[in-house]
Amino acid sequence: MTRELIQENDVLKLLKSHKSIRKFKETIVEKDVIRTIVEAAQGASTSSFLQAYSIISIHDPEKRQLLAEWSGDQKYVASAPEFLVFCADLHRLNLACSKHGLPYEAGYTEAFIIATVDAALAAQNAMIAAESLGLGGVYIGGIRNNPDKISDLLKLPDEVYPVFGMCLGYPDHNPDVKERLPISAVFHEETYKTPDEKEMDAYDERIRAYYIERTKGKKRESWTESVGTKIANETRPHMKGYLESKKLNQK
Ligand SMILES: Cc1cc2nc3c(=O)[nH]c(=O)nc-3n(C[C@H](O)[C@H](O)[C@H](O)COP(=O)(O)O)c2cc1C
Repeated sequence: MTRELIQENDVLKLLKSHKSIRKFKETIVEKDVIRTIVEAAQGASTSSFLQAYSIISIHDPEKRQLLAEWSGDQKYVASAPEFLVFCADLHRLNLACSKHGLPYEAGYTEAFIIATVDAALAAQNAMIAAESLGLGGVYIGGIRNNPDKISDLLKLPDEVYPVFGMCLGYPDHNPDVKERLPISAVFHEETYKTPDEKEMDAYDERIRAYYIERTKGKKRESWTESVGTKIANETRPHMKGYLESKKLNQK
């Protein structure tokens, strides 16, 4: 395969130009477009053909407002033309067992991982499909700030939980693509390798420059400072109890 062929590949160009979109035009996203995006999501690989996820589209403005507040006051959750909630869903598989009188035991961590991964794969297909149609979007992990309230609002049964939301719409801004880690930090051959310090230092400085430029100097952190601050703090400790209460991730 020649370098030119790779450079001209539209799918690769799309993948490498991804950027989260948080400002949307008011233009509605047509029902057919959403349907196409969901069908693309359904085309994702799925563990053992289980298809262990559900996607809920929320249009009701009051629900949107609540979702925005419960996600940490993220305004675009209320204002985006489309908002999808991607749920890991083992409930449907429980029903499949009942239909055939098969014993079913809820609560396995492995089943929880399968359903979460299935939801994420479907979501990323949806994001790419949307981008290929000229839309943009952003994932909203913030919905896990208040999973209990959101489960009630969306009437999620046991064994279904909201993994993340996704705002979609026609972009009304065009942020720069965020440079990812040096490939040597994420791609290893034969055995795991700790990242090269010099390459990481150089990356840190490039990301610092990116933030300074993007925020007009308000944010000046390097990548390690930024992610370190995030990950050093406790991170949604309520999730363990919440998942167990939904008969997920118990054993
Ligand atoms: C699972 C997941 C959850 C996310 N949650 C949020 C969120 O709640 N709010 C937000 O503004 N961005 C959220 N993001 C977007 C990330 O911040 C963004 O993808 C990352 O900074 C890289 O930037 P880029 O998407 O523009 O390349 C989330 C992304 C993922 C994959």
